[in-house]
Amino acid sequence: MICLGIETSCDETSVALVENGRRILSNVVVTSADFHRKHGGVIPEIASRMQLQTIDLVAKAALKEAGVNLKSVKLVSVTSGPGLLGSLLVGISFAKTFSYGLSIPLIGVNHVISHFYANFLENKSIDFPFVALVASGGHTSLFYVKDFNKIELLSATLDDACGEAFDKVAKILGLGYPGGPVIEKLALKGNSGKVKFNCSVKKNELGFSFSGIKTAVLYYAKDLVHTKKKLSTGHARDICASFQKTVIETLVEKSIIACKKKKVKNILLGGGVIANKSLRDRFKEASIKNNLDCFFPSMKLCMDNAAMIAGYGFQLFKKGYCSNLYLNHDLT
Ligand code: KG4
Ligand code: ZN
Repeated sequence: MICLGIETSCDETSVALVENGRRILSNVVVTSADFHRKHGGVIPEIASRMQLQTIDLVAKAALKEAGVNLKSVKLVSVTSGPGLLGSLLVGISFAKTFSYGLSIPLIGVNHVISHFYANFLENKSIDFPFVALVASGGHTSLFYVKDFNKIELLSATLDDACGEAFDKVAKILGLGYPGGPVIEKLALKGNSGKVKFNCSVKKNELGFSFSGIKTAVLYYAKDLVHTKKKLSTGHARDICASFQKTVIETLVEKSIIACKKKKVKNILLGGGVIANKSLRDRFKEASIKNNLDCFFPSMKLCMDNAAMIAGYGFQLFKKGYCSNLYLNHDLT
């Protein structure tokens, strides 16, 4: 069965065609990031306007690249949330039109869960149950997964998401948006031992909190500027290295605790932050040490894309789930 997936939860517009939830026939992604950069973060109004202007072109490109005609599409899967309201509505309206026009079923899926589903798109055979960590611009969540429709949320961030912290720290240091890739680059040349940051949550062994570390970076940078008049490249590199190391260690530590608690052998990662190479290396190392199999999507599938939406939608549809034309956004 060929499923057409649509993803418009943030600043990307993506349409994909995926066969039987596993084989990607096409996965076209365009982003409006360039238009947000000068504002230091995503401007929802700009994002949704760009999505409205581009979604039909992206869909045409995806169909063409897959070599698929409309008659072969048997299911439409769309991100119904969480995400930016206006952006979600563009994708949902487009999906409804497709479903109605072609008389094919429609399914709305959760964006966060789709992030770890991305692992199933690369022909991996992964046994249930497993623990999944999603670290993106909007979420940092740990799940216990027994099946595609039996998913327990173990913990989520108490405040800022992990990727959001990367973006805010980059903004504080004047490094631009998005923050993750540029912090990763600078961290490579920095000394993580020069400054000490912390983001542990003592009260909850699985809980995450990234707002405190962002504020600590803000005060540290302000103090440096105050005493030395200027934040040097060396300082910025050391701050990035220390910030990144602290965040990664926290993600690894909590994920391993979750795996031990739930007695699983597999851990799946997903979301934009998982594109970070130091994080991937550190997870590999910790997994070997703790006798776990660790899975992460290829770099491209870590970021927002419609293939993960098409794939996960197919799995839910196979289990009997379906939406209708009353499908609405779900911001939770
Ligand atoms: O999953 P995603 O594409 O969108 C959301 O669902 O939010 O994640 C975007 C987030 C941004 O906050 C970005 O800074 C972060 O992922 N990110 C990274 C890296 N690449 C992207 N964070 C750390 N290291 C990276 N290499
Ligand atoms: Zn995402």
